[in-house]
Amino acid sequence: MAAAEPQWVLMATGRSPTNIAVIKYWGKRDEALILPVNDSISVTLDPDHLSATTTVAASPAFPSDRMWLNGKEIELSGGRFQSCLREIRKRARDVEDKKKGIKIKKEDWEKLHVHIASYNNFPTAAGLASSAAGFACLVFTLGKLMNVNEDYGELSSIARQGSGSACRSIYGGFVKWCMGKNDNGSDSMAVQVVDESHWDELVIIIAVVSSKQKETSSTSGMRDSVETSPLLQYRAQTVVPGRILKMEEAIKNRDFDSFARLTCADSNQFHAVCLDTSPPIFYMNDTSHRIISLVEKWNHAEGTPQVAYTFDAGPNAVLIARNRKTATLLLQKLLYCFPPQDNDLDSYMLGDKSILSDAGL
Ligand code: DP6
Repeated sequence: MAAAEPQWVLMATGRSPTNIAVIKYWGKRDEALILPVNDSISVTLDPDHLSATTTVAASPAFPSDRMWLNGKEIELSGGRFQSCLREIRKRARDVEDKKKGIKIKKEDWEKLHVHIASYNNFPTAAGLASSAAGFACLVFTLGKLMNVNEDYGELSSIARQGSGSACRSIYGGFVKWCMGKNDNGSDSMAVQVVDESHWDELVIIIAVVSSKQKETSSTSGMRDSVETSPLLQYRAQTVVPGRILKMEEAIKNRDFDSFARLTCADSNQFHAVCLDTSPPIFYMNDTSHRIISLVEKWNHAEGTPQVAYTFDAGPNAVLIARNRKTATLLLQKLLYCFPPQDNDLDSYMLGDKSILSDAGL
């Protein structure tokens, strides 16, 4: 009788926050490798508030790779998961756990299947981007499991192949995704601009305007923009390079005035590109527009920006306040202008980074 296969499970767990772009990534020059048409800059949120936690397990008892997202099994057939798994497997090294008597040679990782369980600590129904946190966490945790020795730049380049924005979630603080020049994507990766302690008086408030899933995904929206929007080409080639330099400078100097002006202008131009796409893409709604007006009027009345706004591929507002005092005033203004209704009492405050509920808007 053949000896039974040794049965063991090796596990690793990691957590990655999501990030919010202040200079947006919109458009790919290579769809398969996820290579962008311009550099982008983002701020990584605090992991206690908006993050993905992922556990990956490997065992000779697993007949196939499987994944569960928030407790529900999802298809792993998508090329993006496979790309991340393939790239990490390629870099896997020997692993030994003496206590459990486990010894895995680097070539064994090709044959070992993994089970992946990932959870988001924020309501998925809220329509907040989760792929950035999800893929960053997947790559980071698989790397840990398989004893990958690559630096963060290399890991970010792998996370990029899961979802472009994910490459920026590998680092905390403010992060730049350098688009790179190479056709194979080897130089398209994220670098940290400053760490999370550099500008810690900023307060980020996310106002959830609608909890509906967005109608046009970022992936298909940016594909349509690349194919049809003349403004996208102008933005990528003429506007963004200068903005990236100014934004890096504003962040390094903690110059909120420039930071806020650049952030708002870039969000508005990204949505102008969406409108310039055929057929046009409407990510913001009337409430988003009312929030913009509120902030613009307030900033104008003060003479200097108090709050910056930015909107991704959906109507929810990400508001960045100059400091805690301004954040308190902002929350008062938001609650006054958009009073929560009885059925929206699931609104909750998360310390400095708050989520307003749907507010019935
Ligand atoms: C508007 O990273 O979700 O949030 O690379 O196709 O997965 P894929 O797109 P994704 O796009 C994010 C777009 C954005 C801007 C940004 O985060 O820079």
